[in-house]
Amino acid sequence: MSLFDAYRYDGRRAVVAGGATGMGAAVVDVLLDAGAEVIAMDRAEITRDGVTAVSLDLSDKASIEAAVDGLDGPVDALFSCAGVADGTPGLERINFIGHRHMIDRMVDKELLGRGSAIGMISSAAGFGWEENLHNVEQYLAVRDFDEATAWAQEHGRTDYLWSKLTVNAFVAQEAMPLLKKGIRINATLPGPTTTPLAKANADTWLTFAEDYRAEVGIEASTPLEQAYPLVFLCSPAASGITGITVVSDAGYFSSGTSKAYQPAVDAVGFMRMEF
Ligand SMILES: NC(=O)c1ccc[n+]([C@@H]2O[C@H](COP(=O)([O-])OP(=O)(O)OC[C@H]3O[C@@H](n4cnc5c(N)ncnc54)[C@H](O)[C@@H]3O)[C@@H](O)[C@H]2O)c1
Repeated sequence: MSLFDAYRYDGRRAVVAGGATGMGAAVVDVLLDAGAEVIAMDRAEITRDGVTAVSLDLSDKASIEAAVDGLDGPVDALFSCAGVADGTPGLERINFIGHRHMIDRMVDKELLGRGSAIGMISSAAGFGWEENLHNVEQYLAVRDFDEATAWAQEHGRTDYLWSKLTVNAFVAQEAMPLLKKGIRINATLPGPTTTPLAKANADTWLTFAEDYRAEVGIEASTPLEQAYPLVFLCSPAASGITGITVVSDAGYFSSGTSKAYQPAVDAVGFMRMEF
């Protein structure tokens, strides 16, 4: 045993929801190297060797319940990675309601026990969650999968930005009740990352903060660079951290918030508006 073992996953079991491509696939790669047993779940085919592949459609309650109920033992870390862009039918379920239903079912069935952790992926779109908390709270209070779906559809809240505001608020709101059960929950808020999803929306997703990256001399993030902090957050090494969304955007929002980089100030102001 060494102190550094707290960063590893030997003897630990992880579920990666959205593990076929992009950041989720990178999380799978890191977890395998860290010694974990990995169950990768996705709507798309999972081609990675060394994992148990499970079919999962987060827009479909029955599919989520079947995937969870098919687990044959406890889970030490749940990574809620799957997400889709505006224009995808079922976005409100895939990006938030489905992940929450999966978490709730795992907690109810005591599959996530003391010492386990949940890691979600938010987005720059969720940056203004504190300014929008009073709006988002009404939605978060609707806990049932079908009722929350109906709420989002009736209130015109089926968009990407709203889904990510809710992820951040959910992570903050759940920290205390989950910790009473010994479970931690955190998220990352990645900057533009070269995944299939971002490449498919390159005009908007990969041009965001391009000026900042040119100025500091970096490229858009790789999926692996986003996997590292998420895997850390669900490891025992992060046992003192819960309820936090880590902004993994290479300093763009901090530079705007602190006014260190003037062109980012407007972006920060925009993201903190009430939506
Ligand atoms: N790429 C970026 O620039 C960026 C930036 C900020 C946040 N994000 C977020 O990162 C997360 C991961 O996205 P990515 O960029 O790696 O994209 P990606 O498309 O490579 O990965 C998303 C995964 O989710 C899966 N998925 C989609 N719909 C599903 C469904 N109904 N049920 C189950 N799985 C489903 C996909 O098959 C895919 O494997 C998303 O939540 C996204 O919103 C991405």
